[in-house]
Amino acid sequence: MIYNSFEDTGLLRVLKFLKEHNTEYLSGQDLSDVLHISRVAVWKHIKKIQALGYTVESKQKEGYKLTKKSDLLLPWEITNELDTKLLGQQAYYYDSVDSTQTEALKIANESNKEGIIIIAEKQTGGKGRSGRKWISPKGGIWFSIILHPKFDISNITLFPIASSLALSNAIEKTCKITTELKWPNDLTIKGKKLAGMLVDASLESNKIENLVLGVGINFEVNSKEIEKVLKNTPNFYGVSSLSEQKNKIKPIQLIQSFLLELEKIYEQLNNNQRKKIILKWTERSSTIGKKIEVETHQGKVKGDAIKIDDDGGLVVKDEEKTSKIFAGDIIHLTK
Ligand code: BTN
Repeated sequence: MIYNSFEDTGLLRVLKFLKEHNTEYLSGQDLSDVLHISRVAVWKHIKKIQALGYTVESKQKEGYKLTKKSDLLLPWEITNELDTKLLGQQAYYYDSVDSTQTEALKIANESNKEGIIIIAEKQTGGKGRSGRKWISPKGGIWFSIILHPKFDISNITLFPIASSLALSNAIEKTCKITTELKWPNDLTIKGKKLAGMLVDASLESNKIENLVLGVGINFEVNSKEIEKVLKNTPNFYGVSSLSEQKNKIKPIQLIQSFLLELEKIYEQLNNNQRKKIILKWTERSSTIGKKIEVETHQGKVKGDAIKIDDDGGLVVKDEEKTSKIFAGDIIHLTK
């Protein structure tokens, strides 16, 4: 099943009307007259709306009344009452897809629109960093966002860091939970991975054509089950899930909050306000100040994580030298 937020379909018109009049019963005839569609079409749309998880009560002689919203991450629920200027204003939804990142990369080549979001209830071939698999069952929040940044290419290595800060801010605001940031862009709770991000960049003659940011949040997933599968894989350090925390919120609220936080940080990047981002990221960082180890293309680097440089690189110092790393999975050697 694929849906989008921007096509004017009969289903959306019926749903919108039910939402706007959810204190009263609406007869099939009234809906048909107001929306200029047949009564059979009204009935079919109502069945579809119910199949999408909305509760629509129907009473003989009185008609239909919407009494509960759907729990699905439907695209029009994301764009509805979204406070951003650009990000997330157009949404695509899949009940199941191979990878939202793959879909987003296809769309990115066809559209210049800023901030399109592609969201899936579950992924069958979710992709993680460094070619790893990303386990994406129903219950998690899996999406990709397409951006066409104005910022200079030199900011590109800071972008993953900035995005993880945006997600951490959103989780703090909506769930009242403080997450730790593990370089470059993992979010953790008590050292266990809660969310990860993936950035695919398309560059053309030293300019950024588009960036596709993939975000995976273990929202309501069984972390123990995922741990069992991942236990013996590289870079495994435990899995946590937001459902294990006390403060329950709706996933749509978290996505909307993230889009808003990302838009703010994206503007800061566009205005070259790097220092502010690095400072905030460092405050939440579980990496800076620790002894770390990382496998880079140039070999193993081991030392103290000193700071994030202006370009997003992680500065690591040992007794002999100071190095800067831009990619790789780090291991924290000290608590
Ligand atoms: C990582 O930490 O390794 C990055 C994980 C990124 C997972 C997300 S889920 C949505 C998007 N689609 C994918 O296939 N991957 C990203």
